[in-house]
Amino acid sequence: MLPPLWQDLEFLSPVSDARADDLAAWVAAGLVDGGTVLDVGCGWAELLLRVLEAAPRARGVGVDLDADRVAEGRSRASARGLGDRVDLVAGPGREVAPGPVEALLVLGSSQVWGPDVEEGLPLDYAAALRAMRGHVVPGARVLYAEAVWSAPPTPAAVAPLSGRDDEFLAPAALAALVADHGFSVRSVEEADLEEWDAFESGFVARQERWLAAHPADHPGAVEVAAAAHSQRTAYAEGYRGVLGFAFLRLVAV
Ligand SMILES: C[S@@+](CC[C@H](N)C(=O)[O-])C[C@H]1O[C@@H](n2cnc3c(N)ncnc32)[C@H](O)[C@@H]1O
Repeated sequence: MLPPLWQDLEFLSPVSDARADDLAAWVAAGLVDGGTVLDVGCGWAELLLRVLEAAPRARGVGVDLDADRVAEGRSRASARGLGDRVDLVAGPGREVAPGPVEALLVLGSSQVWGPDVEEGLPLDYAAALRAMRGHVVPGARVLYAEAVWSAPPTPAAVAPLSGRDDEFLAPAALAALVADHGFSVRSVEEADLEEWDAFESGFVARQERWLAAHPADHPGAVEVAAAAHSQRTAYAEGYRGVLGFAFLRLVAV
């Protein structure tokens, strides 16, 4: 019923265009001689395509459970002349294993190797990090982005999330865990509030556009308005500034 998220969001993560280009350039710098970059939980593959644009000798493989997002990624790839250098696959990330690759992207998708996010359980970091390390050759550049607590979780912040304050880690604890799983941590940075505000606004923009395009007595109007209101309130009065998103630049050792 609602238009797809990619009409309002460049990424399904709180990341600005400028940061995405910088991250893509860093990954691409490890692929000057070619190689394969794998993106697990690629969404519509925007970051993977930017890496390929910055690394003309590399190939890409992206996988996502959501077939519509994958189809959008394929259409972006072909519009940008990248169709012959990227394979985008719809399916479970655990089952895609193109062999140890030279670069890996995992942005907001480590749940691929653990319980589903809807279950509201803490992520299985160890399982995800073991799987990630198993997917890459030594020396591979890995971009790992994960939800974190930017500030100590408050009751108001956790209430609209899973309700538990152990759902995420603080960035330093996450970095320490990563370092214990075969990666050298080259940098840790966090999405800023501007990126979060843009992400949250983009998330509800399709609901607002739908409401503007339909009469107030449309059978779906109450539900769509309630969903937009609840998302806005959860963020503004709950987790804004508490739920964070950390980007870790890693090299496999
Ligand atoms: C938060 S989004 C991030 C998307 C993309 N990495 C980005 O930053 O724009 C997480 C993505 O992981 C995908 N996903 C979740 N579980 C998955 C699984 N088991 N296998 C493959 N993809 C999965 C979702 O469909 C979603 O597109």
